Amino acid sequence: AGMKTMENVIVLVNRIQRACTVLGDHGGGDRASSLPTLWEALPSVAVVGGQSSGKSSVLESIVGRDFLPRGSGIVTRRPLVLQLHKTEEGVQEYAEFLHMPKRHFTDFALVRKEIQDETDRLTGKTKQISPIPIHLSIYSPHVVNLTLIDLPGLTKVAVEGQPESIVEDIENMVRSYVDKPNCLILAISPANQDIATSDAIKLARDVDPTGERTFGVLTKLDLMDKGTNALDILSFIEVLEGRSYRLQHPWVGIVNRSQADINRNVDMIIARQKEQEFFASSPEYSHLASRMGSEYLAKLLSQQLEAAIRARIPSITSLINKTIDELESEMDHLGRPIASDAGAQLYLILELCRAFDKIFKEHLDGGRPGGDR
Ligand code: GDP
Ligand code: NA
Ligand code: MG
Repeated sequence: AGMKTMENVIVLVNRIQRACTVLGDHGGGDRASSLPTLWEALPSVAVVGGQSSGKSSVLESIVGRDFLPRGSGIVTRRPLVLQLHKTEEGVQEYAEFLHMPKRHFTDFALVRKEIQDETDRLTGKTKQISPIPIHLSIYSPHVVNLTLIDLPGLTKVAVEGQPESIVEDIENMVRSYVDKPNCLILAISPANQDIATSDAIKLARDVDPTGERTFGVLTKLDLMDKGTNALDILSFIEVLEGRSYRLQHPWVGIVNRSQADINRNVDMIIARQKEQEFFASSPEYSHLASRMGSEYLAKLLSQQLEAAIRARIPSITSLINKTIDELESEMDHLGRPIASDAGAQLYLILELCRAFDKIFKEHLDGGRPGGDR
């Protein structure tokens, strides 16, 4: 259903990712073995950064909604795969979890609570982490098509109640995502700390030495103007202009809501406007204003993700074909699919794969130029 409206490749890939996850959850055994490979072949954007660097704030700002758990310590303890789907104007905005697909959340405070509850369901109330992701989709006319994976913040010391290994466990989990050549890295560093010691940049340079799939983001630029000398600001401008820490893509500066703004419940849309005013009116940054801020970042990431997917359509298509072959032979073993839940599930995914194969081929042959830039 709705196949003809799915022209955006990000939307297509989102659906394959969800299908893979569903099969991984329900299929078990060796059936899951080929599909995670497909999942991994699909480009995505992973958000990395130290604790309190502003990761959650950046994600919320990209969505334009306040919906992530917050607090001190390790708040994100399972990866959150956040799929943003742009809908037509006038459609009521809602969120949906893969683990409770029938429920449409329109109250985003309840989304926050469900992320917390679902995290605790797997990790207990302990401060353990789990690599099993939570999938959340947001349907809204105000978002761009984009998939972001929020990961636990990199940390240097375990806090009370956590095993000593937590520091390493988190790094390993984050690495398992950003190691993959298909993963775009959104590396978040706060401007009020030395960039040279940024956890995000250290990790990104390690797995992406040429900086071709890393997007540097500097948060807390507003905290630079008080008690900071002009020289410090100058060095950040160098970073933002791409003259130091050479990444292939220019850095993006961000001003999120401060803790005081959050306490006062400052509206996300107002915060975005304030952010834009900050850049436009600042003597230091005004020349960069058109490529600063979270709205720009969202558009940039959507374009880059789309480009990454397009570049990989041939390899994704061949993997999908391999998956189709495997699923078909598995179907032969099972007999008529409708007989069991697992069979019905497989059958659906097989159909989905066939549909994708067709649509991807059309994209490849038709060479539709990449969206509106
Ligand atoms: P996370 O731990 O990386 O997810 O970081 P959060 O997004 O939770 O942010 C940590 C704290 O820094 C919160 O109190 C935010 O309000 C604050 N913060 C994040 N970004 C900015 C920013 O750009 N400017 C200011 N002033 N505060 C920020
Ligand atoms: Na935090
Ligand atoms: Mg966070």
